[in-house]
Amino acid sequence: MSMTETTTFPLSFTLTPSKSARQEAHREEILASPGFGNYFTDHMVEIDWTVDEGWHNAQVKPYGPLSIEPGSAVLHYGQEIFEGLKLYRHADGSIWAFRPEANGARLARSARRLALPELNVTDFVESIRQLARVDAEWVPSAPETSLYMRPFMIANENFLGVRAAHRASYFVIASPAGAYFKGGVAPVKIWLTTEYTRAGRGGTGAAKCGGNYAASLVAQTEAYEKGCAQVLFLDAETGTHIDELGGMNVFLVKKDGTLVTPRLTGSILEGITRDSIITLARERGHTVEERDVSIEEWRDGVASGEITEVFACGTAAVVTPIGQLLSNEFAVGDPDAPAGELTMSLRQELTDIQYGRVADNHSWMTRLV
Ligand code: PLP
Ligand code: COI
Repeated sequence: MSMTETTTFPLSFTLTPSKSARQEAHREEILASPGFGNYFTDHMVEIDWTVDEGWHNAQVKPYGPLSIEPGSAVLHYGQEIFEGLKLYRHADGSIWAFRPEANGARLARSARRLALPELNVTDFVESIRQLARVDAEWVPSAPETSLYMRPFMIANENFLGVRAAHRASYFVIASPAGAYFKGGVAPVKIWLTTEYTRAGRGGTGAAKCGGNYAASLVAQTEAYEKGCAQVLFLDAETGTHIDELGGMNVFLVKKDGTLVTPRLTGSILEGITRDSIITLARERGHTVEERDVSIEEWRDGVASGEITEVFACGTAAVVTPIGQLLSNEFAVGDPDAPAGELTMSLRQELTDIQYGRVADNHSWMTRLV
């Protein structure tokens, strides 16, 4: 059987309810102040794959530790990929996902790059729906909160030879989420690393794999030490163009209203938020340029007033204003200046769609519950 086939289509899921699901009062306490990534819901999804059987054993089961052999490939060679998407509770209590098929398609692209099996998009969306149904009460309803879903896939063949594993498992866990950054929606400071890069030509930069994040952590630690919230990486080949942040894409806004963002070179993640922002901005009549963006353009543009706003975007970050860019050589921008007007209005428009406060004219939302 080829790596891309599934045994049965679509998969059907079995459910084993948790015997230790949190009581309502405990859950509500968590939902009142979830932060980001701190708590997990009562259940998780698992689907297993082998070369011989394809995808099988689809189940929703109690959240809990995994049992994998110490010889599992993921622990040695980092053969792992993941996704991140949010579920939103609308005013009528219904639960919706934002562009889940785009996350499913990206997971499949990441799988190809990491030589992992592809899960088809229908099964991916169904896995999200299954967990959403069982843990529906974990989707918070306070403004700007959501349930963050973290699908991931690991190679778990117990074998130390270096080749694509013949056994893999896919999981989905869920974590109630408030703002990603501690300060809420306030301008953040960004550290520019000139020492480290995140992804090179032909590498895994466009895949959402754990290794990319592992490679970013030393620079992210440096960013924290400098009082910054995220690290900005330059392209690995020339060190002159901006790629993206450790976990977000970047946009510059020019004084004439043009938006500029790095083009998809294969070394940056194809952000679904990035793509949505491009669509919304173009609909408003803004020119959006996807091209190489030099670090001088950012530095000198902010200093001269040619660039009036800079923001980061991603599922976790939503749209976050960037107040200052800091490096060993320079600091530009005012960290205490208020968030940019266009930044905040694009954020508002995006979240209005996600929370069902305005019409979903792009069919971006999928109702799950
Ligand atoms: N870039 C990186 C490295 C990321 O980890 C993320 C987050 O998923 C993004 C960009 C933004 O992607 P998306 O908007 O699909 O969440
Ligand atoms: C996301 O936005 O979903 C990510 O995976 C990025 C990470 C900073 C949490």
